[in-house]
Amino acid sequence: MADIINAEYPMSDFREIIVSEEEIKGIICRIANEINQNYAGKKLLVCGILKGAFIFTSDLIRQIKIPLEVTFIQASSYGNGSTSQGKVKVTEFSDLGNYNNFDILVVDDILDTGNTLCRLKDFLRERGFKNIEFCTLLDKPERRESKIDVKYIGKQIANEFVVGYGLDFNEKYRSLPFIASLHEKMYENTLKT
Ligand code: PRP
Repeated sequence: MADIINAEYPMSDFREIIVSEEEIKGIICRIANEINQNYAGKKLLVCGILKGAFIFTSDLIRQIKIPLEVTFIQASSYGNGSTSQGKVKVTEFSDLGNYNNFDILVVDDILDTGNTLCRLKDFLRERGFKNIEFCTLLDKPERRESKIDVKYIGKQIANEFVVGYGLDFNEKYRSLPFIASLHEKMYENTLKT
């Protein structure tokens, strides 16, 4: 691999690549195949969670070969640091009341404490959805605080701070095509403040 990804992100920002581009593609094919089977003949609404899941959602839906509609919700549980602040703010961009006869599949980039998806499950139930399933590209089981059943999981990872493929640190690194663990030197000053 080249030492420099681009002028902004040298490889020295990262400890290691956790999920390569090729592995991400394989994960998406596997999950899309399951979705194709499980939602055949149903009305499917895919709901991506902004911002982190915007890339995963767009790549996943292009591998799903059954009819679907797409929407997004923004859910924020972190501040500008690398640790969760335990609060979840939800912002809706379309009238979810128009989709009450749809099965909804919520797509997120990472399952960490589980607080975001628990909050979203209540939010979507309040809006009338009866069949709610979840899909996350990454899962950090060590970090769980809230019990949540996630039907489609791409890959379980250790409790490391990861960036890329939609995941950020202070809004940086989302555009990386792979997922990497961030070198501690990139955030240790943030944690001290
Ligand atoms: C991240 C991630 C998940 C959530 C997971 O979002 O995208 O939505 O945190 O954490 P949890 O399981 O502990 O609730 P974040 O709030 O960082 O916002 P972003 O996607 O806009 O970066």
